[in-house]
Amino acid sequence: MAENRTFTMLKPDAVENGNIGAILDLINASGFRIVAMKLTQMTRKDAEAFYAVHNERPFFGELVEYMTRGPIVAAVLEKDNAVEDFRTLIGATNPAEAAEGTIRKKYAASIGENAVHGSDSDENAAIEAAFHFSGREMF
Ligand code: RTP
Ligand code: MG
Repeated sequence: MAENRTFTMLKPDAVENGNIGAILDLINASGFRIVAMKLTQMTRKDAEAFYAVHNERPFFGELVEYMTRGPIVAAVLEKDNAVEDFRTLIGATNPAEAAEGTIRKKYAASIGENAVHGSDSDENAAIEAAFHFSGREMF
């Protein structure tokens, strides 16, 4: 995948709270182009694999419960410097520490339920996009 792409999920709390449209508005207004998108729900196996890097952490069980409890919006976004710029747009993992104007500051309730995911490297963006989308689903 091109290095100007990142992968995001609008997590179950964002979908439950009716925030899909508002978050997509912010993403568009920040200059990202949506190159793939769908509403989907992760199975337990999906979530355990997607977040395998955290499987020794004390919050892993809660994280899997949370990420599988309802639908998410999975998307691939394109922009120069996409991974870093999107991490800036979403803000700190803990919304209490997130900068004003960031998606997590506006829409996240807690460090555990924080509304949105953003890839942390170009390599992981490619892996995560391929986890959710075939080549024919990315434009
Ligand atoms: P993400 O991968 O979802 O974009 O979030 P992140 O990089 O900002 O944070 P990361 O350290 O990768 O953690 C992944 C997700 O696990 C949940 N978490 N809960 N209860 C806790 O202390 C805790 N810490 C992390 C969050 O949903 C976090 O986004
Ligand atoms: Mg992460």
